[in-house]
Amino acid sequence: MVPHQAVSMAGFAKGLHMLSPVVSLGTRILRQLPAENAHRLGLRLFPWADKLRLLSGEAQGTAFSWQGLRFPNRIGLAAGYAKNGEALAALAGSGFGFVEVGTVTPRPQPGNPRPRLFRLSQHQALVNRMGFNNKGVDYLARQLKAHRGRLITGVNIGKNADTPISQATRDYIYCMQQAYPWCDYLVANISSPNTSNLRDLQLGEERTRLFIALAEARKILSNKHSRRVPILIKISPDTQKEEINQLVEDLVDKELDGIIATNTTTQRPEGIAQSSNGAEPGGLSGAPLFSLALECLARVAEQLPSDKLLIGSGGIASTENALAFFKAGAKLVQIYTALAYQGPGIIQQLAKAGEQHFAQQPETSHRH
Ligand code: FNR
Repeated sequence: MVPHQAVSMAGFAKGLHMLSPVVSLGTRILRQLPAENAHRLGLRLFPWADKLRLLSGEAQGTAFSWQGLRFPNRIGLAAGYAKNGEALAALAGSGFGFVEVGTVTPRPQPGNPRPRLFRLSQHQALVNRMGFNNKGVDYLARQLKAHRGRLITGVNIGKNADTPISQATRDYIYCMQQAYPWCDYLVANISSPNTSNLRDLQLGEERTRLFIALAEARKILSNKHSRRVPILIKISPDTQKEEINQLVEDLVDKELDGIIATNTTTQRPEGIAQSSNGAEPGGLSGAPLFSLALECLARVAEQLPSDKLLIGSGGIASTENALAFFKAGAKLVQIYTALAYQGPGIIQQLAKAGEQHFAQQPETSHRH
């Protein structure tokens, strides 16, 4: 973990506000609460921290442009944190270059029974089995319509728990239709381990059927709204190599636009299962996910054409972690668990790393 002093003394880009010790203290206090309460309270505190100018201010750095989208820096908030699109204005003031909201489903649903979010503090990790608790895509669309500012916003979509997997496509298309006018990119989440059989959508005919449906729906929606919204696919680090190859091939063939690698893992790397909360069922995120996610992203990078977008996610908690993802081919990265453990100071630290990497080695961002 990076101590707060290291964060404040790093002397980030000229003109950035120093992160207040109040935010650091707030992060430490939140870590004493049960994990899900801490998350809910943290999300509520963001707007206050923003109003009191305790956050670092709007994202700064060298922008990255792709398909007409201008990302002010390369660090994003991963899906699951702001599921219903709350606190967007405040998140824009926290230094993120982009934010991904959701996963949303067509109908609101409560998710799994609590407790469903667990800290593995000694490993800087979390296990969650939230199960897509969310207020539904119509609520999210209203939030985005009312509050979307200049912040690049992706909408991550899924299916309701009670929709049979054979009819999942319908749910994705409904979410896509509702969110389309209000977002900058869409993500089909087919990799959460907490919705039964969801990850089957990464495979074979189910996958191809979904990809075709997404591409066809996009054709209609881009005509209707005179705007082509990119569609990304979020994949699991537990996917077999051969399945990754086939998925990437299918994605290119159906003219979808990119990959987020990765979601949480159901694996328990060495030493995790024996530690407190380590054996809880659900998806593991944070430091122990890092190598698995990086390996998966590198595999995708070998095959994905350079005009597609590759976003890294999984255990990024330091400058070195972010650099490893960039070197492996990620053009952007996202964080979740490190935000819970380290607070918003981590955002500027990573943004700076991204800026330096791409300034020094612009050619590493291109693959052929
Ligand atoms: C997640 N994640 C997630 N991903 C997604 O696509 N849809 C979702 O709804 C959620 N929900 C969610 C809840 C909680 C509590 C956690 C910890 C994670 C996965 C998340 O977006 C990210 O991909 C992984 O957590 C890996 O990144 P970190 O956390 O290791 O930085």
